[in-house]
Amino acid sequence: MKLSVAGLALWLAAGWAAAPLVVADVPAAAQQPLPVALVDALTKLSGGPHPGMRANHAKGVLVTGRFTPTKAAATLSKAPHFARSVPVLVRFSDPTGVPNLPDADPNASPHGIAIRFQLPGGTSTDIVSLSANAFPVATPEDFLAFLTAVAQSGPGAAKPTPIERFLGSHPAALKFVSTPRPAPESFATLAFYGINAFKFTNAGGVSRYGRYQIRPAAGEHALSDAAAAKAAPDYLMDDLPRRIAKGPVKFRLLVQLAQPGDPVNDPTVVWPADRKLLELGTISLTGTVKDQVAEQKALMFNPLSLLAGIEPSDDPVLLARPAAYGVSFSRRLQ
Ligand code: HEM
Repeated sequence: MKLSVAGLALWLAAGWAAAPLVVADVPAAAQQPLPVALVDALTKLSGGPHPGMRANHAKGVLVTGRFTPTKAAATLSKAPHFARSVPVLVRFSDPTGVPNLPDADPNASPHGIAIRFQLPGGTSTDIVSLSANAFPVATPEDFLAFLTAVAQSGPGAAKPTPIERFLGSHPAALKFVSTPRPAPESFATLAFYGINAFKFTNAGGVSRYGRYQIRPAAGEHALSDAAAAKAAPDYLMDDLPRRIAKGPVKFRLLVQLAQPGDPVNDPTVVWPADRKLLELGTISLTGTVKDQVAEQKALMFNPLSLLAGIEPSDDPVLLARPAAYGVSFSRRLQ
């Protein structure tokens, strides 16, 4: 079985010099507030701290463009960007807190996309998604247990290792790490999924639950294993600005609508593929931010930065994210 979860193979593979294995201090982690313990675990797994960098999704590229809604978008939600075109700021990323992770490394998938819709008057709302259609665990406590098990399963760990035991008792995590995720040709040829559900309410007061999908207009295309082995370490980060310089890079923003009975609070459960997909609009990327280091450092995306017409579900993973992102953000500003 090829384990390709972000950070997992990294820590199980012996001799990966850039990121030495650190065995998590479980009793210390247990005494910390959960968001701090999660960020500490991510930091240790990435051989950090890496000053000025995100504890997760450290490597990224920041670009700009516009979102233009369809007419149908306003039938779902009264949020203003579903009724008028707005500028967007978009960060594509590799997971883990390893700042120099090669883009084609198995640990660099699933990749991330963070989209900020910039509304008049300085308000904004974010979507923060992954190139995977499910999360490995259903709670933040289990995410900490997962990260801790990975850290304790380095070379020399007694069999069955903690991560083998964890995967044996968490089928969704096993499925996540064994799903093949070939290196994409480009960020422009990769699909992203919101995973966490939100409750959308339109101007008539009608509410529906849904999950975002962000689909590349250029279609989904991956590299062969041979091409991935030869790919330059920063090929994804370098490709996107080059493509944008030649013409707009476009994505469709969709929402998969839940039917009654579909769990809206469990990010490990993929809803059936026949659920209706509503087309919300087009993201058209046309510019690259000049000062990447300073701009990325100063930005914190937040999946719960929402506007009237969009509310969180009671998914515990979704609700845990902003506090952890805040810990990581405040540390990188120090
Ligand atoms: C309990 C679960 C999770 C934890 C503890 C966690 C933790 C983190 C942390 C600490 C960061 C760095 C934030 C910053 O410094 O600005 C981050 C970034 C990110 N996370 Fe999560 N995460 C979780 C779940 C998820 C899920 C479910 C998704 C997608 C559906 C996701 C997608 C991302 C993306 C795309 C970024 C990069 C954002 C950017 O470009 O600034 N994460 N995560």
